[in-house]
Amino acid sequence: MNTENKFIPNDYIQNITDGKFSWSAPSNIALVKYWGKKNNQIPANPSVSFTLKNCKTITELAFSKRDQSTSNDNAISNFSFDLLFEGKLKEDFKPKIEKFFERIEIYLPFLKEYHFSINTQNTFPHSSGIASSASGMAALALNLMSVEKLLNPAMSDNYFFQKASFLARLGSGSACRSVKGKVVVWGNHQEFSDSSDLFGVEFPNTIHINFKNYQDTILLVDKGEKQVSSTVGHDLMHEHPFAEKRFLQAHANLSKLKTVLENGDLQQFIEIVESEALTLHAMMMTSLPYFILMKPNTLQILNTIWKYRNETKIPVCFTLDAGANVHVLYPENVKDQVFQFIKDELVCFCQNGHYICDEIGDGALQIL
Ligand code: DP6
Repeated sequence: MNTENKFIPNDYIQNITDGKFSWSAPSNIALVKYWGKKNNQIPANPSVSFTLKNCKTITELAFSKRDQSTSNDNAISNFSFDLLFEGKLKEDFKPKIEKFFERIEIYLPFLKEYHFSINTQNTFPHSSGIASSASGMAALALNLMSVEKLLNPAMSDNYFFQKASFLARLGSGSACRSVKGKVVVWGNHQEFSDSSDLFGVEFPNTIHINFKNYQDTILLVDKGEKQVSSTVGHDLMHEHPFAEKRFLQAHANLSKLKTVLENGDLQQFIEIVESEALTLHAMMMTSLPYFILMKPNTLQILNTIWKYRNETKIPVCFTLDAGANVHVLYPENVKDQVFQFIKDELVCFCQNGHYICDEIGDGALQIL
């Protein structure tokens, strides 16, 4: 049964007054992009990502039972939580969490019974232009699942992580790919029998050794606020003239990438991944309103990568998010050469010379 209903819990067995958990959840980088969604955070097409290792959010969740008697009508009608970012109260993050709680309350009926203190921090700078919504929502969802597991200790690990991904998706679509490693598929696809629009699943087959510890150096070209929020961005696909063809292409690219991840064909990998990145930006350039999210330095980087690859035949490629930053992807066995190339020829295009070194990771970890 792959419907939302399986995530509505039966009555809880335990009565718990307070407690504290902490989880770290990583960011992820999509290879086949999620761009366009239907109601309730259902993706318009399936996507696949590498889970990262170093870029992560660490969230601590303390909870304590609220006093029902202080409420007027005996039924507590609001959520109660504090939100701290790096130890300081952060009022402007609260509406997003409030909305998240509203969306997931039916799946976590205990939410209004507790006061929560959420203390969150990222391992990457907040102003780096790296979205923390994926790692942040995944870390929060995992903490909330730890609370639910206390209330219902019989819960299986499989259900725990599947529901964490399901809840994270309701906070931010790509967050459902930030629970597990190393490669995660989200969205129904006919060649992945367990795939679902409701949560991410681990890539089911053996991944070729060429992708072991695959490197991702994130070049920070523009660290400013996002020019297009993801909500606005996904909406652009609704009346988009190329939408249907794009969604079909994502299915086809995921099929091809499935084979490539198994057979290790890096030339094919590069072709699919770079084409996906450019298609994402092409969708933004051809929607109404239209946007160009690359900066001149983004293009400089892409051209320099192509030149280097042509000259050296080293299989380094790029992918992009909905912004100007560039993720440089390359195998571990050429790490030293490529990193030297990045320092010599690409870092000059980064804002203040900033970049982040990352690689494929194993998924979220419970700290407490
Ligand atoms: C370009 O997951 O941030 O990074 O569901 O509205 O929170 P919401 O969107 P979000 O979109 C990510 C889009 C992307 C591609 C991807 O990660 O697949």
